[in-house]
Amino acid sequence: MTVTPTIVAPSILAADFARLADEVRAVEGAADWLHVDVMDNHFVPNLTIGLPVVQSLRAATQLPFDVHLMIEDPRRWAPGYADAGAYNVTFHAEACDDPVALAKDLRSAGAKAGLAIDRDTPIEPYLELLPSFDTLLIMTIKAGFGGQRFIPQLLEKVRAARRHVAAGHLELRIEVDGGIAADTIEQAAAAGADAFVAGTAVYGADDPAEAVRRLRALAERAISGA
Ligand code: DX5
Ligand code: ZN
Repeated sequence: MTVTPTIVAPSILAADFARLADEVRAVEGAADWLHVDVMDNHFVPNLTIGLPVVQSLRAATQLPFDVHLMIEDPRRWAPGYADAGAYNVTFHAEACDDPVALAKDLRSAGAKAGLAIDRDTPIEPYLELLPSFDTLLIMTIKAGFGGQRFIPQLLEKVRAARRHVAAGHLELRIEVDGGIAADTIEQAAAAGADAFVAGTAVYGADDPAEAVRRLRALAERAISGA
């Protein structure tokens, strides 16, 4: 059982991009972090938003930004998001040949450092790097698009990471991303996740703030029963 509070991070990928500031305010007070998916049409086929939008949005809300970079060459771009005031900047293990060096750069720029593991990437080679990170994001889909179906087999990586964190007494958030909704969040929490990204399940709901609260209650119930 984890003693850290549960984080729910709505993903604006599922929001109305023409009304971003309003969509963000709709979850203010309910959400813990705002998950911002940056895609470059190279690391993943999709294309979303970049630094100028994040800079503008930073002024529009108090919510901490959890920036998820699905981009090539994160060493070139990631520190800019830390400079823009992101709370946490996560880059993909598959896109970086020296993740520890970039984690150091992010921390010295004042952000938390996150490492993301995509669907087809094993967790084991990265476990020894975790002391350099604050967040481990384990994809529960293949990165690139919202609205995909949750893959329960990927929770095995969450279990392995949670065991490693417990054995090493590491301070690390384990975040899951992809297909997290009312019918999947409890199994992710029971596997050891303590931060939950939800796009469709939040912004597809009539009341996004209520959807966040409901997800948190489900996760906390699963964690306390684990
Ligand atoms: C997909 C993104 C996710 C996405 C999740 O690559 O990293 O953050 O927004 O969307 P849902 O919750 O709809 O699966
Ligand atoms: Zn994401």
